[in-house]
Amino acid sequence: MTNEPSPPALGTAPFGDDRPDQEQVLLMLAGKWITGVIHVVARLGIADLLAGGPRTPEDLAAATGAHSRTLYRFLRASAALGVFAERSDGRFELTPKAEYLRGDVPGSLRNLAYFYGETTVWNCWGHVMDTVRTGEAVGPKLRGGKTWFQYLEQDAPEFAEVFHRSMTALNDARAPRIADLFDFGRFPVVADIGGGQGRLLAAILLRHPSVRGILYDIPTAIKGARELLEREGVADRVRCEEGSFFESVPAGADAYVLKAIMHDWSDTACEGILRRVRQAIGGRDARLLIIDGVLPELNTWHYSKLMDIAMLVNDKGAERTTTEWRRLLEASGFELAAVHPTAPPHCIVEGRPS
Ligand SMILES: C[S@@+](CC[C@H](N)C(=O)[O-])C[C@H]1O[C@@H](n2cnc3c(N)ncnc32)[C@H](O)[C@@H]1O
Repeated sequence: MTNEPSPPALGTAPFGDDRPDQEQVLLMLAGKWITGVIHVVARLGIADLLAGGPRTPEDLAAATGAHSRTLYRFLRASAALGVFAERSDGRFELTPKAEYLRGDVPGSLRNLAYFYGETTVWNCWGHVMDTVRTGEAVGPKLRGGKTWFQYLEQDAPEFAEVFHRSMTALNDARAPRIADLFDFGRFPVVADIGGGQGRLLAAILLRHPSVRGILYDIPTAIKGARELLEREGVADRVRCEEGSFFESVPAGADAYVLKAIMHDWSDTACEGILRRVRQAIGGRDARLLIIDGVLPELNTWHYSKLMDIAMLVNDKGAERTTTEWRRLLEASGFELAAVHPTAPPHCIVEGRPS
């Protein structure tokens, strides 16, 4: 397995090969089936069970409490996608793609596969027609009026752990690249707002021994952060703070990083968050560093064009173009200073107080 960040943001769309057009559309329509199949094998931990060598479906079913013949059908479908391989002796084995479904590898996608197929996430897609008619998100209606993060915090703390771990693993490859590609060393104190379990902050601090950090997030995220920061050897340079960026943001930083935060929320909610950051900055010469997608115009493939819909149905979130970023910053007390390319699918949108 490689440490390449996935998936590529720009370039050829994943279905842009030379298959007939109708077949490509048929494959697109099967997207939900693929999510379901990968969700099941990931959640059962099949890849971890195969780490020691090939095993039969009966053996895997016994180990996971699954129905044997049915598990075989899920494994066969996965193998057709190149995730696991079925051998002529009837046993299944790992493939390079299946490695990413192991729980203990850098860049693991196991928790993300669990998250994408989880009932509350999955059910939103059954109501997309409502969203396109009303412009409203489906998620809160299915979660008793709660936002995704209120739901995680109040109703599903165990699943919150799965979610936060999935974000951390996505950053295993991206965070060091972001820390390499942008000079965070010019900021004595970097605050990562909604920084999850601290993977990006740790990468920045490892790259710049003189920089100190503030990690700010909700309690379920901070819970897993301390262990990660200790493990990375940067805990003594990080102040962890629990709180809500809708209420306040810690003062005293020279750079305020918000990675994959803005895309979770509507423009109105984002303006609220950014005004809190602006208040925290006060008269300081600090920078706002939004790390998120920047959508290209017209037909160019970008992963975030699909993520945009996922964010929309979940909590009325959105991915944005440069023009939209500029407008959002200007409505919140900032001006757009620059857009820096970084690890795909993200850019760094740099703002300074206006
Ligand atoms: C999509 S995740 C991104 C996490 C991390 N920045 C990354 O790039 O992996 C969004 C983060 O926002 C945090 N968050 C959500 N609501 C929050 C709030 N009201 N105050 C602070 N953090 C919040 C979540 O706990 C989560 O860590």
